[in-house]
This record gives sequence, structure tokens and C-alpha cells, in this order.
Amino acid sequence: MSSNSSITKADPAILLQQLRAVVDSPEEFAADRQEIVRLARKATVMLEDPFEMFQRLAYSALPLVTVRVAQDHKIFQTLVENKDGPTSAAVLAEKTGINPTVLDSLLEYMTTQHMIEESSPQNYVPTKLSNILLAPLFVDGVVHFHDNCLPAFNALNYSLSNPTDPRTAFEVGQNSPTDFYTWLETHPVQGAAFHRFMEAQFASLPTWLDVVPFGTEYAQLTDPETPVFVDVGGGNGQQCVALQKKYPTLIGKVILQDRPAVLEKAITGQEVERMSYDYLTPQPIKGARAYYFRQIFHNNNDAVCLQILQAHIPSLSPSSVILIDDKVLPDEKPEGGAVEYTAGLSLAMLVMFKALERRESQWRKLLGDAGLEIKAIRRFTDFGDSIIVAGLK
Ligand SMILES: C[S@@+](CC[C@H](N)C(=O)[O-])C[C@H]1O[C@@H](n2cnc3c(N)ncnc32)[C@H](O)[C@@H]1O
Repeated sequence: MSSNSSITKADPAILLQQLRAVVDSPEEFAADRQEIVRLARKATVMLEDPFEMFQRLAYSALPLVTVRVAQDHKIFQTLVENKDGPTSAAVLAEKTGINPTVLDSLLEYMTTQHMIEESSPQNYVPTKLSNILLAPLFVDGVVHFHDNCLPAFNALNYSLSNPTDPRTAFEVGQNSPTDFYTWLETHPVQGAAFHRFMEAQFASLPTWLDVVPFGTEYAQLTDPETPVFVDVGGGNGQQCVALQKKYPTLIGKVILQDRPAVLEKAITGQEVERMSYDYLTPQPIKGARAYYFRQIFHNNNDAVCLQILQAHIPSLSPSSVILIDDKVLPDEKPEGGAVEYTAGLSLAMLVMFKALERRESQWRKLLGDAGLEIKAIRRFTDFGDSIIVAGLK
């Protein structure tokens, strides 16, 4: 008996009716949202003919590219701010400064992606997507993926075909003599967008503080001079702020370490000490309760990660822990199929840093090779975000 035994025969009319209902009232399908999206995407691939499939593939860079144009030229903003109804193509041409004939093509493409809608000939209204793409988080994310990552993705094939070239795909694609983080220092728009994106991208998800009772596990019997929390490569310092918000009576030093140019823009107040530090060199803060690394190890290959760990091991006291906040992907691929986001993220690490996301057995080997013991791995999102608690054996 087939697993679809309750459905005797496919009925395109019913399917079309149901799909229209999804488009009109998506909220009614919220409970099955993910499975519907997964199947709808697969159904698209199964239904497309080769010509259609190829067109989709050939223009696959355009959604990101046109969003970047639309954000930069305030197309979404103009549509959303116009409370009087549709905005004409003429007004958009005036506001954007883009040649009207060119703009016509751009807007036409954007309507095919449901980023905007042509409500009547040459008149446009915003969609759900226009509004989402106006959020600062997604403006920064688009700048990062478009300006920083896209040239790197373009160079992946070169990189894999030339494995002896020491440059990352990022360095090849950007024709940059320096690594990504050094390059950011001379690209302030991209640097600021990247660090804000790092700060905010997971704001809607659970965090490590939901699974680590930091106050009771690591902040007992401290005095004001005890280094309680060292955020290594902490970027804008949002995790220091989150820790202090959750534990306002925490006693001890909270220290944010990063490159000097990044520290200058950090969001932390006086309560957080800022310290310029290169994590490849010996850790100057001795005997901290916790050395915390969020999204640091996935930027580095195993050899560099070992160097980072070795730079920290001499500073560990028996009560110190290394907290690694990164993806821990399962060793077995998920039954429902691979997850697009984490598979894509791994390739992003590859092109930007010649690194990859790690599976649990790879983490165990890495930390074992460094001579450290994994005391716990606590997962806190459905995407494998986890805190690895490691310390001296
Ligand atoms: C992916 S970001 C993560 C930032 C922050 N931990 C977070 O999760 O939002 C990596 C950070 O490592 C910093 N970084 C890169 N190389 C570094 C080095 N050699 N020493 C210290 N920090 C470094 C970058 O400036 C950046 O802030």
C-alpha cells in the first residue's frame, strides 16, 4: 500500500485551489509551514522543464543583486513610505536617479521575485518582502553577502581547481592582498554592516545563555578583580552586554577582546573592559572563569584552531572553561534531507576562510588533539547552534 493511500488520485484543481489559499492566507498554514515550503520547492524542481530550470539557475545571482540595488536606491523605502497608495515609475525614476528605461526592467524583474508588485501599469506597491528587506538586519546582511561574499563564491571553482594557491576564494574574487578581516578595515561600509549583522543576526533565536546557567556555574565566589568572562574575537560585544543584562549583579571583570579597529566601534559601555588582542598570540588574561568564542572556530581551519587553543591553554586554571559557541552539525545527515542554511554557511566559511562548519566527531577530534576535555555540548537551536564546554583534563 502506498504511503499516500488516503489520496486515490492527484487532483490538480484541488491543488491549485489550495495553493491559492496559501497565497491568500498563509497564516492558516502556519503549523505545516516548513513542510509546505520544502515540498513546494521540490515540486517546482520536479515540474520545471529543462529550459525553465536553466533560466532559474542562470539568473540565480539576481535576487541578491537587485535587492542590493533596491536597498541602496531606496526603492523599498519609497514604496513603503508612500501612504497615499501606489508609487509611479516616474516618481521612482526621479527618487532613484536610475534611467527610466533601465528602471523599468529592474522593477519588472523585482515583481517576478515578489519583492514589489505592479498594482496597475507603471504603478508599484510594496509587498511583505519589501517590508522585511527594509529591516536594518537584512540591509546589513544583504551588504555583507552581496559585497563581501558574492565575489568569493564566484571564485570557489577557481579555488578548488587550484588547491596549491594559498589565497582564499575571497582574496581571489576580491583581488585582495589581505584576508577578509584586514580588508574590512579599509572598507568601512562593508565592515560596519558585517559587524552589525554578526551582532543581530541570531537575535530572534535562543542563545547560549538559555542553556548555560552562567551565574551559578562560573560566577560564584568572585571578587571585582576576577576575570569572569573573556569574549575572544567578540566583535561589537553584544554577548558581553547580553551576559550583563541577564546577570546584573555579576561580580568580576567582563572583557571584550578583538582587533583594535573593531573595538573602537563596539557597543559595550564602561562595565566592559576592551582589550586589543590577536587570538593567535598568548592569551594575556590568566585564570579567567570562561574564555568564550562565538563564531571564531568556524572561521579557521583545524591547524589555526589548534594554534588558538594552544595560545589559551597556558592561561587556563583548573576552574577555567573554554566556551565555544558555534554550529555542531550531526555526524549523520538529517533524515528529512540536508538543511540549506547550514550547508550554505559551510560553503561561505570555505570561500571566505578555507574553513568549514564542523560535525560533532570533528569537534571531538579537534579538542582532543589540543589536549582538552569536552565536558558538555549543549544545543540551543534547531540549526545545530551549540555551546561546547571544554577544559583541562
Ligand atoms: C565572525 S566574527 C564573530 C564576532 C563575534 N564573536 C560574534 O559572534 O558576533 C569574528 C570576529 O573575530 C575577529 N577576529 C578576526 N581575527 C582575529 C584575530 N586574529 N584576533 C582577534 N580577533 C579576531 C573579527 O574582527 C570578528 O569580530
